[in-house]
Amino acid sequence: MGLKKLLFLISIFYITNAPAQNVAVKKPVLVGERIVQFIPEGFDKSKTPSLILKEEPRSKGTMPKDWSLIPGFVVNGNKASAYLKLSGDISLYGGGEVTGPLLRNGKLIKLWNTDTGAYGVEEGKRLYQSHPWVMGVRRDGTAFGIIFDTSWKSELYTNSDEIRLNTEGALFRVFIIDRESPQAVLKGLAELTGTIEMPPLWSLGYHQCRFSYGTEKRVLEIADTFRAKSIPCDVIWMDIDYMDGYRVFTFHPQNFPNPSALNNKLHNKGFRAVYMIDPGVKVDKNYSVYQSGSEKDIWVKKPDGTEYHGKVWPGDCAFPDFTSPKARKWWSGLYQDFLAKGIDGVWNDMNEPAINDSELPQEQRLGTMPYETMHKGGGNLPAGPHLLYHNAYGRLMVEASRDGIMAANPDKRPFLLTRANLLGGQRYAATWTGDNMASWEHLKLSVPMSITLGLSGQPFSGPDIGGFLNNTSGDLWANWLGFGVFMPFVRGHACAGTNDKEPWAFGEAIENTSRIALERRYRLIPYIYTLFQNAATTGIPVMAPVFFSNPKDLTLRNEEQAFLLGENLLVIPAFAKNPSLPSGIWEDLSLVGGDLQDKYQAKLKVRGGSIIPTGKIIQNTTENSFDPLTLVVCPDEQGNAVGKLYTDAGDGWGFKKGDYNLMTFSAKKDGNTISITMSAKDGNGKAENKIEKINAEVLLKGKIYKGTGTLKEGVQVHIQ
Ligand code: GLC
Repeated sequence: MGLKKLLFLISIFYITNAPAQNVAVKKPVLVGERIVQFIPEGFDKSKTPSLILKEEPRSKGTMPKDWSLIPGFVVNGNKASAYLKLSGDISLYGGGEVTGPLLRNGKLIKLWNTDTGAYGVEEGKRLYQSHPWVMGVRRDGTAFGIIFDTSWKSELYTNSDEIRLNTEGALFRVFIIDRESPQAVLKGLAELTGTIEMPPLWSLGYHQCRFSYGTEKRVLEIADTFRAKSIPCDVIWMDIDYMDGYRVFTFHPQNFPNPSALNNKLHNKGFRAVYMIDPGVKVDKNYSVYQSGSEKDIWVKKPDGTEYHGKVWPGDCAFPDFTSPKARKWWSGLYQDFLAKGIDGVWNDMNEPAINDSELPQEQRLGTMPYETMHKGGGNLPAGPHLLYHNAYGRLMVEASRDGIMAANPDKRPFLLTRANLLGGQRYAATWTGDNMASWEHLKLSVPMSITLGLSGQPFSGPDIGGFLNNTSGDLWANWLGFGVFMPFVRGHACAGTNDKEPWAFGEAIENTSRIALERRYRLIPYIYTLFQNAATTGIPVMAPVFFSNPKDLTLRNEEQAFLLGENLLVIPAFAKNPSLPSGIWEDLSLVGGDLQDKYQAKLKVRGGSIIPTGKIIQNTTENSFDPLTLVVCPDEQGNAVGKLYTDAGDGWGFKKGDYNLMTFSAKKDGNTISITMSAKDGNGKAENKIEKINAEVLLKGKIYKGTGTLKEGVQVHIQ
């Protein structure tokens, strides 16, 4: 052995066996209202760039004097960790996309985006996304949150006495928010990592998907059946089989010969069309996308400089190196011609990236690129190994996709769904919880999974309703849809080889149940749209844990069957057994004839003191749901209530220039009369004209009192 090699081995031995060393913190800096940035000595942006924050935070002063949450940093060899010691009785939440319970005390989350099909419900599984973020709620209802600003492969421990992130990479920054409530902490998270952009109204309707509706004819059959059966639906999805041999940005010549005509027909029937695009580009010298990517030199390379190839649906694929601005620009450009075919939305899948390496011996399989595969970087991003960029690959892909969609259709709001993402990635895409199973365990798990995403910055999520893998029974479908329609993203999906899972596939009784469930969703769209506007401006989740109704009530802290839709509506799924419900006035709500008698429908309760705007039953969001507008009023002890309604054109950017209405409705009791009026209005929208008649339904001690009026004059309801 030469001297050089010996020295190298000694240094490796030293690095891997070196004792862990504490690292001092540079002067902490206040970067927002009760938000402090902690930077360890030796932190180097070119080793750990920030892919999480929406922009570089600016100093707003020094750490407040009463500040108690100080993290520690440690390096062990070349691997950095950070931790926050906890004292007292604290409920922990967050961590993004996770299996297991809502309450995260004593858990471990492995942050390494992984295609874990059939992921089971056990804890500790790697899933598709990484959210190095934890929120703690103290006994008194005050709360704090910690962002570990790194995308290096890591493990997140949420123990009751310590939150810790152990990474396999260089030192990183930590941000801590300490505020008066969990809601205020989530606003702080949004101040640092951004919010969703306002989605198009149609994306809040029902989405019907399958892997795959294999021909144009089948797609139209599905669309026509919704309309013939009067089951509301807004969107039909094209999974991979629409492509020519799974080549992205192509269409199957026999089965999808005329996508423009297909999309046109769908539009005429009031549907939108979403098409899948994966990152892997088939290695095929005669395929234009592979050719142009090769000419532009945008592929991920192996350490020896040759193209990295991995197997996905089309066989061997090359992968755009989304860390490079040049590659992102090239990828964005591909959407121009694609969307010109009348495509309304895009589904980015397999972007962990998932790679099929099952030909390798078990112990060598990674399911993705080898750790040392290099990424080029550029712009603000340094060159770095896959170990650094893997967890950001999907997030960088959707940034490029979103840019491309915006450039192609600048006057429309993009709708983009992604499977992989990183904390902060809500800025670019909505998400779903991947390949779940048609089982009761997955049905129940879908509630805490989507709540937890909402508590981690991503308000626009939902599961594959009915379960993706395995056959679904009518009973399971109906139970799932019965509450799934109150989740932010509502899509039925099914794996190839499984039974039909459309709302009519389980016989007449379940078809009726499905219609009722979807009609309930559509009646609530004015309320849900208002919640999305709130999420887009403040970061407050659309779907929230029950304890948000009273963060001081410790009995609500681990409730994960029931959930809140906004602040004012409580959803209790039919499967829920002895849920912990908030105290105070909560009145039962019926939205559609027969819903209270149907055993599959979730129970809905309205919070005392609130007004919920509801529309009429429509078949899709191209219809005007606001005439008449029905205000559901649930008075508090004093007989008063208040609620908001946001309306705008439903698409486009006019709302940014004032073409919207944010209306506040107030109800006041005087003797035996409750008067409901529009007490404030923000914005200058034209959409307001759509509201002519107003109905009011006052829910009081189990009874309903009704009245009618107009937006200008308000409504008076007499109660006995
Ligand atoms: C992945 C997706 C799934 C999709 C399938 C085929 O498994 O998670 O939703 O149907 O690929 O594209």
